[in-house]
Amino acid sequence: MQKNPANVIVMISGSGSNLQSIINKADDIGVNIQSVISNKADAYGLKRAKDAGITTQVIEHTKFSSREDFDRALIKYINKFNPDLIILAGFMRILSDGFVATFAGKILNIHPSLLPKYKGLNTHQRALDADDTKAGASVHFVTNELDSGEIILQESVTIDAHDNATTLAKKVLEQEHILYPKAIKKVLQR
Ligand code: GAR
Repeated sequence: MQKNPANVIVMISGSGSNLQSIINKADDIGVNIQSVISNKADAYGLKRAKDAGITTQVIEHTKFSSREDFDRALIKYINKFNPDLIILAGFMRILSDGFVATFAGKILNIHPSLLPKYKGLNTHQRALDADDTKAGASVHFVTNELDSGEIILQESVTIDAHDNATTLAKKVLEQEHILYPKAIKKVLQR
């Protein structure tokens, strides 16, 4: 993908600190964020987007009777933009096969574990419970199997004896903010 800047949509559900790191490094990565979508109306990331002058859209999954209907509304909105990439940044909904097929090969996600370890939720506690010495984050392509698509980049951190799920999450998140912009850039340079 040689286009510079590449057009991207970012999807969030919460704080949006990864979104912020992408906003801050947009020029270096070579992206133009066309819109930020949240499935939660109170996501703090919406404020971050607005402060950066980016269009926002709330599409609440609770307003739809099925995952497929929610995803159809997402697709309808995203199709207006014809983005090069869709960047999931703390978007906490599983996407349907229909959504993944519509944007095949264009959806990226960041997951707070060293995949293939700890797909799904509570990744940090699971790493601690397993007495792992390292934790980390992975950026991967989204396929219709949860947290299983091709890994683009990973970064690890050392788990210290005093770490708990909160301190570990904070350490990993700091690395995520460096990792995600790098991984997006890597995909765009392919
Ligand atoms: C990040 O740690 C991200 O890896 C994780 O949610 C957090 C979002 O933080 N994503 C997942 O767990 C996806 N399954 P942010 O809203 O501050 O970017």
